[in-house]
Amino acid sequence: MKLVKLLANLGYGSRKETQRLIRSGVVTDDTGAVLSDSDLPPFERIRVRGEELDPPSPMVLMLNKPDGYTCSTEDPGDTIYHLLPPRYAQRNPGLNPIGRLDKDTTGLLLLTDDGKLLHKIIHPKSGCLKVYHVILDRPLEGHEGELFESGTLVLNSETKPLLPAKLEVLGEKEALVTLHEGRYHQVRRMFAAAGNHVLALKRISIGGLHLPDDLDEGEWCELTVDEIASIFTS
Ligand code: URA
Repeated sequence: MKLVKLLANLGYGSRKETQRLIRSGVVTDDTGAVLSDSDLPPFERIRVRGEELDPPSPMVLMLNKPDGYTCSTEDPGDTIYHLLPPRYAQRNPGLNPIGRLDKDTTGLLLLTDDGKLLHKIIHPKSGCLKVYHVILDRPLEGHEGELFESGTLVLNSETKPLLPAKLEVLGEKEALVTLHEGRYHQVRRMFAAAGNHVLALKRISIGGLHLPDDLDEGEWCELTVDEIASIFTS
């Protein structure tokens, strides 16, 4: 791959723009030697304005999603991409959420530019369970666990029953729900089917990967190889 394309793929601009960037002399190696279009030192030695390059593809990020942000590149309002460096929204291959969260759902959101990994995690057969912490409007009545575990619950405007899901009651109006799949507004619609209403929803784990306590809302980090592997160990 050429330097121009490498930088364009990392979101530094179009090919024309990255060519201009290179010609302006701000792309160097780690000794400060200016690079030209035809140079391509090892990735980790390249600098732009003295800074290391963003991580190469494949990349997996973990974001603690705050309330009020959509998981879309198109939305005119606040999106999860506003919480990341602007370059990250321009990368090729693109950075996509692994299982979207609603605008008002918070918590663990993974993003990746690795399509295979994305499908491996979201496919129900992967066995990567997603756990949600739920705060409800009304007290639980006691029948919800059986309904969710039945494997026969069909959501409004759908025909295929949901896979069995687990309910763990934490309080009168508080519970954990564990899902194998990720249908549109699933947790909210499950509680609506049970005659309740979700006030707050937070995803706390995907497979064996838990949202760490020290990752504040709006903060993100890149996952290590071990953390990625932990997703498949629940
Ligand atoms: N279920 C929902 O209802 N919303 C989400 O964001 C995730 C799961």
